[in-house]
Amino acid sequence: MSDDPLTPPSQKSAPDRTTRRTAAVIPAAGRGVRLGPGAPKALRALGGTPMLIHAVRAMADSRAVSLVVLVAPPDGAAEVKTLLDAHALPERTDFLVVPGGDSRQESVRLGLEALPPEYDIVLVHDAARPLVPVDTVDAVIEAVREGAPAVVPALPLADTVKQVEPAAAPGDPEAVVATPDRSVLRAVQTPQGFDRAVLQRAHATVTEHVTDDASMIEQLGLTVVTVPGHEEAFKVTRPLDLVLAEAVLARRRLNDGF
Ligand code: CTP
Ligand code: MG
Repeated sequence: MSDDPLTPPSQKSAPDRTTRRTAAVIPAAGRGVRLGPGAPKALRALGGTPMLIHAVRAMADSRAVSLVVLVAPPDGAAEVKTLLDAHALPERTDFLVVPGGDSRQESVRLGLEALPPEYDIVLVHDAARPLVPVDTVDAVIEAVREGAPAVVPALPLADTVKQVEPAAAPGDPEAVVATPDRSVLRAVQTPQGFDRAVLQRAHATVTEHVTDDASMIEQLGLTVVTVPGHEEAFKVTRPLDLVLAEAVLARRRLNDGF
């Protein structure tokens, strides 16, 4: 590559820009309490296929992703392995399954610990966001390759947001204390993309006020950047989200038919 006369000198000097290997860690160990009673959320079906299989396919659809680490419910690793074997997945992608922990942060850490050394870009993607399009995944990876230590897909907010004085009991009226300027706020999604060494340092040192993986990088004092998110990367959290997810899948099937 280095003696290729067509490659501009600026790209030749970029560190391993094309050889950096990318893995995706998928935390899928949550119960899904807000979805209501039933199997762990990631194991529930969407369009007849478990949510986590959709999430795995969404990551493996990116040609840059060569390993997917699935973080299974603590007692569900064997079941998840069986599911992976039972569904068609790209040949070029390797898979690992590890049991998760009590918190999402713990589950991500356990996934990172299972990563072989040759991967230096890591995506962290919620199993609960099964329908993220591959273009969003690729945009995140590209921004990390360009040199950002942490990248999040983000969307503008649709609703006006109020800051309140939280009520003592749920459902009680709450006093509004401020209306933040919505134009500088974003709702963030996954996959979030990281320089692997930076994310591991964050997991080794940051333990408090963790809301998402990128917030740990912010606490290290490093810059997190956004790329455009996608409305189909929404998180399946409550029962109504299942209705939306089924509708998105039905629309895709219809479009694929033409
Ligand atoms: N997650 C995880 N380990 C945990 C908790 C959450 O791997 N101990 C994962 C979930 O499986 C999910 C993602 O983190 O893919 C985002 O979490 P969330 O949407 O909150 O899922 P749950 O925690 O399962 O849902 P709930 O909070 O309603 O119980
Ligand atoms: Mg949760």
